[in-house]
Amino acid sequence: MHQDQTPRRCVSRPHPELRHTAARVAEAAVRQGQRCPLLMVLGPSDAGKTTLSWCLARALTERHRQTAFLDADLGQSDVGPPTTVGWTWYVPDLERERPVEAREIYFVGATSPADCILGTAIGTARMTQAARAAGAEAIVIDTCGLVSGPVARELKHALIDLLRPSFVVAIQRKRELEHILAPWERCRSITLERLPSPEHLASKPRGLRRRRRQEAFAAYFRDTTTMTLDLRHVALHGLLPGLGEPVDGITRSLAQNSLGSRLIHAERSDAGVLLVTERPVSSERVRTLQEQLPEEAVIVRAQSELEGLLVALVDPEGRHTCLGRLLSVGVSAHELRLAVPIVPTEVCGVIAGRTSVDAEGRETDQS
Ligand SMILES: Nc1ncnc2c1ncn2[C@@H]1O[C@H](COP(=O)(O)OP(=O)(O)OP(=O)(O)O)[C@@H](O)[C@H]1O
Ligand SMILES: [Mg+2]
Repeated sequence: MHQDQTPRRCVSRPHPELRHTAARVAEAAVRQGQRCPLLMVLGPSDAGKTTLSWCLARALTERHRQTAFLDADLGQSDVGPPTTVGWTWYVPDLERERPVEAREIYFVGATSPADCILGTAIGTARMTQAARAAGAEAIVIDTCGLVSGPVARELKHALIDLLRPSFVVAIQRKRELEHILAPWERCRSITLERLPSPEHLASKPRGLRRRRRQEAFAAYFRDTTTMTLDLRHVALHGLLPGLGEPVDGITRSLAQNSLGSRLIHAERSDAGVLLVTERPVSSERVRTLQEQLPEEAVIVRAQSELEGLLVALVDPEGRHTCLGRLLSVGVSAHELRLAVPIVPTEVCGVIAGRTSVDAEGRETDQS
């Protein structure tokens, strides 16, 4: 698959105490006798989740389990590009190579799970199924640091309920995770393992997180090929032009007047009226147009927003083969031009994300 060339992160030596803890949890997981124990690591940002997850994967591998490392952190991915859930087999010292290439990915489309909790939960479940189907004898799931508030609770509750891990390893500084753990306290099939977060771990500033994502995107799209897809032969998921019928003249001029920008494309489908404008338009103008078309959803995208939009290519089995960067949409010619790191043999669908990146991997737009 695609060769990842991201600059490697400086990974310090495994901390002896942590290795000891991981060995204890891995031993308990193996002793339970399940064919494929699942260990889910939860915790706030910068609590040591990823470091512990790799240690657990190592400890399970040392106990002769073929172990899958599953990365469900969309923003700070160690496995696969940002915006995806990815998994790979653990091999000794793999953590020194991170970020690493994923064996399979599921495209969620955003870098923040709060924007897509359903997609994150589905992606994590799908990748867990994929790792099991590939013969995993243990799975470690690293998660994102979103743990406070109702959205976080909903996501983490969905993950636990969907996957029913044998172990939930909860790292917390105080009691940040208790509101998530409480409903599972008496669940017989789940062992809750509470660990204190090591003191004085430095927090990663937003700028650093963003820069790491940029590096990861840049590496993913470093060697790309331009691919043209015929919109008549692929299914489109998400808000990309090409799904609908041309709008009537009255709606077209109404839109043009309200939005105050030339329309590149206007179509109507079950999803609503999708308008692609030459220039970005203000949300007030979009609201005004929506008021005039109260019966249907009005979706407006500037041409510049579509350029660089991240998409995933889907194969006939429904797998997300790779990501692509949208280069242009030629609606009249029914074509999408994409920059892709590999050219898949068969593409039957394209999923549009909500993140755009430029050729250097910088995020240019997030909605
Ligand atoms: N037990 C530990 N002892 C000392 N340092 C640690 C320990 N665990 C993690 N660290 C260090 O703390 C930093 C953050 O750890 P890590 O990336 O694992 O946290 P995280 O919770 O996954 O962060 P994020 O919110 O970005 O996902 C890393 O530099 C790591 O080496
Ligand atoms: Mg992490």
